[in-house]
Amino acid sequence: MSGFKLPENFLWGGAISANQAEGAFQDGGRGLCNIDMIPHGAQRMPVKLGHVPHPVLHDDTYYPSHDGIDFYHHYKEDIALMAELGLKVFRTSISWSRLYPNGDEDTPAPEGIAFYRSVFYECRKYGIEPLVTLCHFDIPMGLVEKYGSWRSRRTLDCFIRYAETCFREFSGLVRYWLTFNEINIVLHSPFSGAGIAFQEGEDKNQVIYQSAHHMLLASAQAVRLAHEYDSANRVGCMLAGGSFYPYSCNPADVWEAIKKEQENLFFIDVQTRGHYPSYAGRIFAEKGVHLQMEDGDSEILKTTVDFISFSYYASRCVAADMNGKTANEGNVVRSVKNPYLETSQWGWAIDPLGLRITMNQLYDRYQKPLFIVENGLGAVDEVNPDGSIDDSYRIGYIKKHIEAMKLAMEDGVDLMGYIVWSCIDLVSASTGEMSKRYGLIYVDKNDDGSGSCERKRKKSFYWYQDVIRKNGDCLE
Ligand code: BG6
Repeated sequence: MSGFKLPENFLWGGAISANQAEGAFQDGGRGLCNIDMIPHGAQRMPVKLGHVPHPVLHDDTYYPSHDGIDFYHHYKEDIALMAELGLKVFRTSISWSRLYPNGDEDTPAPEGIAFYRSVFYECRKYGIEPLVTLCHFDIPMGLVEKYGSWRSRRTLDCFIRYAETCFREFSGLVRYWLTFNEINIVLHSPFSGAGIAFQEGEDKNQVIYQSAHHMLLASAQAVRLAHEYDSANRVGCMLAGGSFYPYSCNPADVWEAIKKEQENLFFIDVQTRGHYPSYAGRIFAEKGVHLQMEDGDSEILKTTVDFISFSYYASRCVAADMNGKTANEGNVVRSVKNPYLETSQWGWAIDPLGLRITMNQLYDRYQKPLFIVENGLGAVDEVNPDGSIDDSYRIGYIKKHIEAMKLAMEDGVDLMGYIVWSCIDLVSASTGEMSKRYGLIYVDKNDDGSGSCERKRKKSFYWYQDVIRKNGDCLE
């Protein structure tokens, strides 16, 4: 063992997102968002992927985001548990439609502002630093219906008003911000990732990349505003991370992996370097995309982020020829099964070394501080008759990833912190299930929405508490 020590100010954290946890989807005058339209069950995928042009709510259908885990009414209890856990950072997001119910109002809803102020005060009361994502996939349905979501620059204007409201209203309470959660997911899950539902006859690639351009402009302008409001603000981009491995050393597979990596890093290349990458021309040509840029856009993009945050659950494996290979099911990012890796109950590859690889690759490429803002294991948990929950498998997963993280830091990677997904059970973004549990705190809630919402500490809660107390020195 080396004598490597994590810095004293290392940011240990836990995360949730508004749309997966808050519920109370109409309380306080909140408006509907894209995620509220995504049902549990067979229709989930078509809606998520944007294949349903005009999603509407059906009376006989369950929509998991409507209830979440009712964080809206439990936040004081939940933040007290996070304080007991010892979190230095609590990552959550703001529900845009709680502040702007239709997205395009002139002024924000006071109840929405009051709610988040209270959440952030509560964190500060315990000395927990909030890390806030402005847009964790959710966008007001008003903007989806009126302007086609990010297709339109009107949405960009509305986002800027919203972001400015957040920086003003939560000034002094929040210092760490992320603009868009997993911005690259717009490529894989356009409706759940960015409110994009395709209309008949539309060119999907054109819509996606044009929308992404508007998101990138929104992100850059938000970074500039955050700095103007308070020079102490630190703003990051956020990538759905996980390196792409070639299936074999066949150069065709290696080239495929490079192309996928570029596609994945495309957005954060812009957010980090302040301009489109050199390979953008090839991607646009291959996909038939003609990006419409206005005068001044290139200038706007020059404002870059302060740090690079990312989620890491799994590495990905790709082959030039997918025929005869087993596809990796259960993840929106298309890849083949890596024969060297075990998978989770939901088919996600388990690859702690992949975290070290990803961290090294990102740091080599950007030389900006990194921040792991999501890492964890989705698994079925059983409550024992005595009420205890033994999730040793989750401890095993997180432990191996923290070990890999420390090795990457010894490799020279500058890392701000590690945030576990999630500190408390919540609705799965991909499947809408509660049974795909990530939390260190159990929530009594089932896939059909039934349950008391009672919270219970899992074995991993006590383990992570000890890890934080010892600043990662001991992972036993
Ligand atoms: C990330 C998202 O993709 O992964 C989270 O930022 C999500 O919102 C997490 O919950 C885990 O994915 P899932 O689909 O298992 O919930």
